[in-house]
Amino acid sequence: MEGIILGIESTAHTFSFGRVSTSGELFPSFSSLYRPEEGGIHPREAADHHSETTSLLLERLSSSDDFSWDSIIAVAFSQGPGLGPCLRVGASVARTLSTRLSVPLLGVNHCVAHIEVGRNQTGCKDPVLLYVSGGNTQVIARADGRYRVLGETLDIGIGNMLDKFARTQGIPFPGGPEIEKLSNEFSEKGETSLDDVLLPYGVHGMDLAFSGMLTSAVQKVAEGKSLGEVCWSLQEHSFATCVEVAERALAHTGKDELLLGGGVACNERLRNMSKMMCEDRGAECFWPDKPYCIDNGTMIAELGRRMLECGLETELMDSGIDPSLRTDNTAVVWS
Ligand code: ATP
Ligand code: FE2
Repeated sequence: MEGIILGIESTAHTFSFGRVSTSGELFPSFSSLYRPEEGGIHPREAADHHSETTSLLLERLSSSDDFSWDSIIAVAFSQGPGLGPCLRVGASVARTLSTRLSVPLLGVNHCVAHIEVGRNQTGCKDPVLLYVSGGNTQVIARADGRYRVLGETLDIGIGNMLDKFARTQGIPFPGGPEIEKLSNEFSEKGETSLDDVLLPYGVHGMDLAFSGMLTSAVQKVAEGKSLGEVCWSLQEHSFATCVEVAERALAHTGKDELLLGGGVACNERLRNMSKMMCEDRGAECFWPDKPYCIDNGTMIAELGRRMLECGLETELMDSGIDPSLRTDNTAVVWS
């Protein structure tokens, strides 16, 4: 019988349990999203949410038809990067389960997990990854045994920028999906021209910046531009900067696959822009299904599976969290 690797995600607002089989079959995650009543994420409150939802999520996981505790052969968890109090909850649950079940523990790099679940789901081999989430915006490619960060945001993550803009307009977290909706409604009217809603374009070599764009977008609404038009312009500008850097990364590395990952990769406009750029240069564009773009336990299980195949288990004494772990801190020894 095939074994199952359990994956636990708890880096920020999402607490999630997912599974993958030893042959790489992905199972949907059981997740709970912490939504602050007002303002941004308060790390302690998010961690309390994770602690309070642990039993409920484990109950839902264990009562799904195809689940059995006996089939679990390892427990993977997000070791970093992320918010310390949130990471600590996931790590404690993982240590408890691994000890109780007497199976190995696997401490996983959350950013690398976004890449590996995308490779599993789409079948792409050696992509440039455009990793666009709340906290992270990076253009990554594998070289010399690491996922190297070729370019990244110099200030805030693109999703964080969208969420902050949304919050100024009274739109609750997560703001990205609502901005997409308002933007679509505006562009369907067919009156699109960037001339009246130009925003600062934050590309600096291979790096990106979003805070100037955010300030200027808030200003445009204050000046009387409609919210839909500004949402549309914000998407056009911010996605164009990401796609531009991703294209340069494809050109520099000579790779011919682009993989999108992270919560903002749910956005259809970003997907279309990326696809157009790839088609223009004879490359292929991939993205995982939406539940595997946003944070989820299954992606943690998938990277755990790759690590387990290479014997990369995490000893209890090495299982401390690392809130500032970087994508390129993790040696990539699997194929
Ligand atoms: P990380 O720890 O990797 O930075 P994260 O904690 O930000 O991840 P994700 O679930 O990967 O979590 O991403 C959440 C972000 O994705 C939020 O900022 C949300 O607004 C954004 N998002 C989700 N759906 C869409 C969409 N359709 N369009 C734009 N942004 C979206
Ligand atoms: Fe993430």
